[in-house]
Amino acid sequence: MLSMPSLFRTNTFLSTGALLLAFLSSTTYIQHASAQTAYAADFIEPTHIIGQPFDASRGRAMQSVVSWAQQLAEGGPWSVVNKFGKAPSGDMHDYLSWAPYWWPDCSSVGNTTVLSDEQIWVTCPYVNRDGQFNPDGRLVNNVGDFQSMAEATLYNAVAWSFNETWVSGTLKTQLETNAVKFIRTWFLDPDTAMKPNLNYAQMKRGPGIQVGSHTGVLDLKAMSKITSAILLLRSGKSALWTPQLDAQMVAWTQAYIGWLESAAIAIEEKEALNNHGTFYFSQLASLKVLVNDLPGAKGVCDEFFNGIYKGQIQADGEQPLEAARTRPYHYRAYNLAGMITIARIAAYAAPSSSPWSTPSGSGATIQKALDFAITTSAATSKEGKYAEELWPNVASVASVYGDAEGKYLAYLKKNAPGFMSEPYILWNAPFGAGEASGVIPPGAKAATRKATGAAAASTGAKDAKDNTSAGMSLGGAGMSAAAVVAAVTVGGLSLLL
Ligand SMILES: *[C@@H]1O[C@H](CO)[C@@H](O)[C@H](O)[C@H]1NC(C)=O
Ligand SMILES: *[C@@H]1O[C@H](CO)[C@@H](O)[C@H](O)[C@H]1NC(C)=O
Repeated sequence: MLSMPSLFRTNTFLSTGALLLAFLSSTTYIQHASAQTAYAADFIEPTHIIGQPFDASRGRAMQSVVSWAQQLAEGGPWSVVNKFGKAPSGDMHDYLSWAPYWWPDCSSVGNTTVLSDEQIWVTCPYVNRDGQFNPDGRLVNNVGDFQSMAEATLYNAVAWSFNETWVSGTLKTQLETNAVKFIRTWFLDPDTAMKPNLNYAQMKRGPGIQVGSHTGVLDLKAMSKITSAILLLRSGKSALWTPQLDAQMVAWTQAYIGWLESAAIAIEEKEALNNHGTFYFSQLASLKVLVNDLPGAKGVCDEFFNGIYKGQIQADGEQPLEAARTRPYHYRAYNLAGMITIARIAAYAAPSSSPWSTPSGSGATIQKALDFAITTSAATSKEGKYAEELWPNVASVASVYGDAEGKYLAYLKKNAPGFMSEPYILWNAPFGAGEASGVIPPGAKAATRKATGAAAASTGAKDAKDNTSAGMSLGGAGMSAAAVVAAVTVGGLSLLL
């Protein structure tokens, strides 16, 4: 059993909420907080939301967006400085995460006493166990916090853009306040801002110089959600998202693009042939959209479709590079989400382009890859808990390619009975039009919860700098890792339900 007490005793900066999310979050698979699901990646055109006369069958999905937005906001805002340790640079503003599948092997270190956690990190060589998460990685939880921030920002922006029938004046202002605050805290405010680099992402621990891995670039794949949120704030003419903030965010993003296009580990990630490469391109393309460089975004998408995409889908639709991994069902769905995101960005940046019909080297399309994936069973490869990862992709493919035979609808009805309540149903019209299960019954009007999000959220920024936050009480000396997890989970349930 891993011993964690010393970590919590020394200098934790984590709030209870951050700890909770730390243990609920993960880098590479879908997460649940209450009934929420974080889809691996997506890009949402603002016109697919703003001004859409959504029919009644989108009611449940709209209700989910409003509810998720408020629940997620309660955990924020989030900041990269909110961690107990520092990157080897010594700068709290440098993003840090530990390589998720690497575990210490202390058998050869010849120690004479028990090593502390901190000693293990720099003394024992770390070895790869593909697909097995080392749970202590969540102690430095910039990755989980970024993910939570991206989800909360996206849903608060989407919900804010709904009309008065859905979000009342006060709630509307609060959703807008939340989205803007979350972006400012993570990227822009001097006390809490992240430096625009991933030099220490998925850093492999062990003896010697500690630097990030190329795989760490994946940590920020949800930038496409931030871009989607900012596009909504811009096109919905948010008063709080001022031209000054927009300019600051563009400047931050330009600096980060500079890192992504030049750092050795970023280029290494770009050259990965599988989902890592895919998410490099989806992230970079979305960033070009954020800085208003649509030709640049199109160029990044083209580079993907003319490059690694060619080798990603076989004639039968199998994705061989993903099928070779430890969790083939998960990785097929995951790479599909990345490919779909790139295709959506290409269609947005260059409406006359045809990413959806672009063939891989074997002549297959994204649809073919999805059609293969839906014939595979998560249970067969012992991945039952990842089953739902494919579902948003099914809706996306159906919305773009159509569903003349009704097979996509039949698939979701069979495998995902509550699918019409999922937010992805909103931006995948016309798929699901007229489905009765999406209609909110008369009398049960849109649940506009008590507007507490902003008030709850306002304490987080303080936590970011306040090392005496409530989280400390969870980690008394002698508390085992399991006990810490249990305490957090109990706290989590009461926080989220
Ligand atoms: C508000 O939005 C809903 C969903 O898009 C739409 O059906 C309704 O007609 C809109 N109401 C007004 C007053 O615009
Ligand atoms: C180090 O040495 C102690 C005592 O010899 C042993 O119990 C312990 O498991 C060793 N390894 C670590 C990682 O502390």
